Amino acid sequence: MSTQSRSADAARMHRPDPEMTQVILGYVADRLLRDEVPLDGLADRAQLSAVLDGLITEDGNDFRQVLDIYADHLALTVLSADSPRMLTFIPSAPTKASLLFDMVVSAASLQGISWFEAAGAVMAENQVLRTLADIAGMPASTGGVFVSGGSAANLSALVVARDTERRRRAKAGLPDVPLRVAVSDQAHSSITNALNITAMSAFVVETADGQLTGESLRAAIARAEDVSDVCAVVATAGTTNAGIIDDVAGIGEVARERGWWLHVDGAYGGAGMLAPSIRHRYAGVELADSIVMDPHKWWFAPFDSAALLYREPRLAKAVHTQDASYLDVIHEHEEDFNPSDLAFHLTRRARGLPLWFSMAVNGIGAYRDAVEHSLEMARYAAARIEDRSDCELVRMPDLSVVLFRRSGWEAREYEQWSRRLLETQRAFVTSSRWHGQTVGRLVFLHPATTTEMVDEVLSALD
Ligand SMILES: Cc1ncc(COP(=O)(O)O)c(C=O)c1O
Repeated sequence: MSTQSRSADAARMHRPDPEMTQVILGYVADRLLRDEVPLDGLADRAQLSAVLDGLITEDGNDFRQVLDIYADHLALTVLSADSPRMLTFIPSAPTKASLLFDMVVSAASLQGISWFEAAGAVMAENQVLRTLADIAGMPASTGGVFVSGGSAANLSALVVARDTERRRRAKAGLPDVPLRVAVSDQAHSSITNALNITAMSAFVVETADGQLTGESLRAAIARAEDVSDVCAVVATAGTTNAGIIDDVAGIGEVARERGWWLHVDGAYGGAGMLAPSIRHRYAGVELADSIVMDPHKWWFAPFDSAALLYREPRLAKAVHTQDASYLDVIHEHEEDFNPSDLAFHLTRRARGLPLWFSMAVNGIGAYRDAVEHSLEMARYAAARIEDRSDCELVRMPDLSVVLFRRSGWEAREYEQWSRRLLETQRAFVTSSRWHGQTVGRLVFLHPATTTEMVDEVLSALD
């Protein structure tokens, strides 16, 4: 085709294509209708390079050929985060309703930037955010936004904490000093990144057993020469490595006394508040100035979704609103609620809608049961580990993470255990470290994980 006729047919990529639509939907349906997705995840770099080499050309390829490359080669090398046998990192287990509605969001290019552009999407997202705020016991003033992940949420919240303090200092005639944030030695790595990006530093509070408490925070303050430059404290509910919920009530009390911003990182563990069996452990979460919970983790929504809630969204709006003449139209009415004003982004997909649809369809009770199931699997695994004479539980799980030692094993043996399980597609597990020692780590999240699967993983420790 000549250049001229190509530009004359510039819309050829955008014309409805019934065949491609059917084939891709068929592929998707096949995946969605499986009882259990395969774990996959075994990659051969040379083979991948061979199939991808020269694929992107001036004139393109038949869609079937490209889909085959994805299905027969690429997909097989990607670990299925949504497999019930995925027991590492923090897995993902999106509900069928949320996955299907994610396709609706994509197919409609549904954005959720501003009230002016996307009122219905904004309302629906806000309905879910309100539901999460109620579960956390946050006040009526609370509002927020869905961002791409816990890291983005932590960063956006800490920017607000920093700038709110800067404004307070400026108003009080205090010098503009570099600020610090109190964090525990177990805080998530994204907090370190956020502090680097925001040019703040950490006032690190050592924990004895992984839990930050009000008492240990007070002791660290008493030992410190000066904490007048500390503007915020991060409480984690719960920690990624061990699933430990900080003493949010005690930490919140210190934060209130000192006028610090209380940020609660519940990216992984926030959903545990749904479970009556452990709800009491989250006491104090309602004191948060900001809190993050990741729907793409334990709220069973697809990537990429983190719910960021602010006690006073106007403070976030004052910091994050982007000012440009072409955007004046979305800011005309002060009362309009614009998700884009509440984090360090502008354009955003309405990524809260898959959770909205699934919550509305399934009801909160189904979420509660699914979370309780993960906790039960963790308790079951802990009990089986305690039964073994060659294993030792590092600590009783608070949430759905189980850490244990296998006597006589070093990093190499844990790695072999992981490889054995993956090669036979029985599970994907990885080790971690606790007090400098390599330990086994299992994370339960998928409601279809069974005790038989847990037994298989543990029998591979023999
Ligand atoms: C406690 C905690 N905070 C923050 C994050 C970062 O979240 P994301 O991976 O969605 O950026 C994680 C991820 O596991 C986490 O567990």
